[in-house]
Amino acid sequence: MRTVRLAQPADFGAWRVRARALAAARVRPEDILWQVGGDDGDLFGAGADDSVEADAPARTLNVPRGFIDLAAQAICHSDPERFGLLYRLLLRLQDDPHLFRVATDPDVHRAEAMARAVRRDLHKMTAFVRFREVRDETGAEAFVAWFEPEHFIVERVASFFVKRFSSMRWSILTPSRSLHWDGATLHLAAGATRADAPDGDAIEVHWRTYYTNIFNPARLKIKAMKAEMPMKYWRNLPEAGLISPLIAGAPRRAREMIMNDPTPAPERHVRQTRRHPVQEPTPLDTLPRSLVEAAAAARDCARCGLCRHATQTVFGEGPLDAPVMFVGEQPGDHEDLAGRPFVGPAGRLFDRTLADAGIDRSRAYVTNAVKHFKFSLRGKRRIHQKPDAGEVQACRFWLGLERDFVKPRLIVSLGATALHALTGHAATLSSLRGRDLVLDDGARLIATVHPSYLLRLPDEATRVRESARFLADMKRILALAPVMRRADAAA
Ligand code: URA
Repeated sequence: MRTVRLAQPADFGAWRVRARALAAARVRPEDILWQVGGDDGDLFGAGADDSVEADAPARTLNVPRGFIDLAAQAICHSDPERFGLLYRLLLRLQDDPHLFRVATDPDVHRAEAMARAVRRDLHKMTAFVRFREVRDETGAEAFVAWFEPEHFIVERVASFFVKRFSSMRWSILTPSRSLHWDGATLHLAAGATRADAPDGDAIEVHWRTYYTNIFNPARLKIKAMKAEMPMKYWRNLPEAGLISPLIAGAPRRAREMIMNDPTPAPERHVRQTRRHPVQEPTPLDTLPRSLVEAAAAARDCARCGLCRHATQTVFGEGPLDAPVMFVGEQPGDHEDLAGRPFVGPAGRLFDRTLADAGIDRSRAYVTNAVKHFKFSLRGKRRIHQKPDAGEVQACRFWLGLERDFVKPRLIVSLGATALHALTGHAATLSSLRGRDLVLDDGARLIATVHPSYLLRLPDEATRVRESARFLADMKRILALAPVMRRADAAA
């Protein structure tokens, strides 16, 4: 048995060096005992058996890129078996380079589950660290937070806090490691205890106000909320005490919201828009494997800057086996608040026309080319803005996933934005309307106008004519997909 001692519990670089050498020498996984720390704390110190590495032939090991990424995440897991598991995978990949694609393989499956748990923990830490203001010995302002991650993620998440709070002086204390940022340099230090962190301060009032403001009573889903904000974090969250009263008052507030006009965006949105133009897409750690996973991942989408101002992502909805997919432009004000596509004025016109054509909307998948509401502020009102080409392009990722999972035989583009998002080129709607079109995946495409175009038409005669054309397009859809017929519609 060889003992391999790593100085830190999540030092991927050190594990990699040791694992490479051991694998090159074909040391069997069951002959290695992986340990962390030790008296000397030295990676290659006394007690560790380095003879294998010294004798190992210089041999190249090949692993898919995905393995490195996955291992670097899984190594942060708190399961003591992680080192051995990843080492076994590394060896097995030498004999079977495609192993990594076998998601049902127990080792691959377990490593992926570990990486997922680590990513979740990282995400939770970025969301739930709460700083308390303190004064240091010179009276200068500093901030201290106490957090209890499940896994060894502190070093990995450090850069997030450095970037986000670069101008502050702060410390994040955790049981295993602590981070100290003095405004210029990051110091890693030993773990701490809860008693080392301050208990409360004036900032907590702001957290409570913030939480009260972002709490949307119309979207109350207690199970999802507990999944998002697991109760184990509550004891360190100043806003946690508000949750029960907000839940209790939610039905009344939701009724009031429905009765009121759409909410005007706060002034800070205007300032933010000026400060933050469109940002770089954030790559996902793993590709969603189902429509449900895609919808969940899209909730955190920051592939463009629209997420900063919109209330929420409005993902598509409808049956997974829908034969027809309708694609609009982007959620409007009402959709942004409700979290569902086509529920505002354009949605009501859409519903009426479908009903007149004899189509059952509940059998269709309805979505948008862009999943966040883009608007500008005019006074207190949020005025719809057309998404630009970059925003449409960034969001094609989600539309592509929806198409992949739903696989509709027929796709209907409502308006020019949807048409461009689906075809990827800039041909005009008028040149493609009424034509037989087929998309790259073989789905048939029907290009028609957006219902809001009909709402905007100024003169009655044109509106009547165009509405009739739109209705004719819907009837054509029903003729191509008769299973969409409403139960109460005449054949
Ligand atoms: N307009 C759209 O394109 N989509 C909606 O969901 C609502 C209005």
